[in-house]
Amino acid sequence: MIPKPGADRSKRMIEMDNVGFTYEAGVEALRSVSLKISSGEFLAIVGGNGSGKTTLAKLMNGLLRPSSGSIKISGAPAESQSIAELSKTVGYCFQNPDHQLFCTSVEDEVMFGPKNLGIGLEESRERMERALSLMGIFSLKTMSPFSLSLSERRRVTIASILAMTPQVMILDEPTTGLDADESSELMALIRKLNADGRTIILITHEMKLVAEHADRVIILSDGHILLDSDVRGAFSDLEILKASRLLPPPVTLLASRISSIGISRDLLTSDEFVFELSRRYGSR
Ligand SMILES: Nc1ncnc2c1ncn2[C@@H]1O[C@H](COP(=O)(O)OP(=O)(O)O)[C@@H](O)[C@H]1O
Ligand SMILES: [Mg+2]
Repeated sequence: MIPKPGADRSKRMIEMDNVGFTYEAGVEALRSVSLKISSGEFLAIVGGNGSGKTTLAKLMNGLLRPSSGSIKISGAPAESQSIAELSKTVGYCFQNPDHQLFCTSVEDEVMFGPKNLGIGLEESRERMERALSLMGIFSLKTMSPFSLSLSERRRVTIASILAMTPQVMILDEPTTGLDADESSELMALIRKLNADGRTIILITHEMKLVAEHADRVIILSDGHILLDSDVRGAFSDLEILKASRLLPPPVTLLASRISSIGISRDLLTSDEFVFELSRRYGSR
């Protein structure tokens, strides 16, 4: 069984203090990044191409180690934990699923992680089946991951992380290349993982997804944190979004443009917009 982690909001899962990272080639990808992420949060990390989102994610699970500053995972210094140890707490789904998939069948792919952590065959198999069911792809168990659609391959990568039962899951641009239906189905599954108590860190370009799903957003720009705020607060700050070349969802922009007629300017979703319109005009 994959236990439901249960969210204890007072539990600090990730803490970064003044973290910097420079690639060997000399590119300073991150500087002075400090943040705290608690259990059960649904956090979005946004920012333009090259702003440092993927580098930040890889630092959170030990795929990269900081050039300066310190990182604590689940209260313990990350440097004292191996990648395998860290992967039990923080799972990272690659931006490109094809950089993560390498087994000849979906079941082998999803069992690889738990087996690699030293978990017995029977429990690894149970975890694999449960993870595939959670991601709605149990029927693909014996297929080759490489014969699947992009949407299915992404679900396989998420299932293979889930099977290691991490409390924190980082999803790096999981909806890129998916159509609208595939994207909303995937987001519904991710939301369920969060409702079960997992901490979700969603890296995305799509502000609509941030507005609809996240509680908190971190905007990265040129390797540093420009804003760390609740989502409604972030989307009402049009200047800071503009400075980071991000646009809020169209419905938020529309509400802002017509706020002079008494519409609240910080609406996030079309449902909120409809509710606001009926509040204002419904009785006429
Ligand atoms: N392996 C690498 N070697 C050298 N520079 C890199 C490497 N990966 C990323 N970078 C650089 O680091 C910066 C941040 O990249 P990245 O974290 O991938 O940003 P994002 O995910 O926001 O697009 C960019 O300038 C990028 O070109
Ligand atoms: Mg990236």
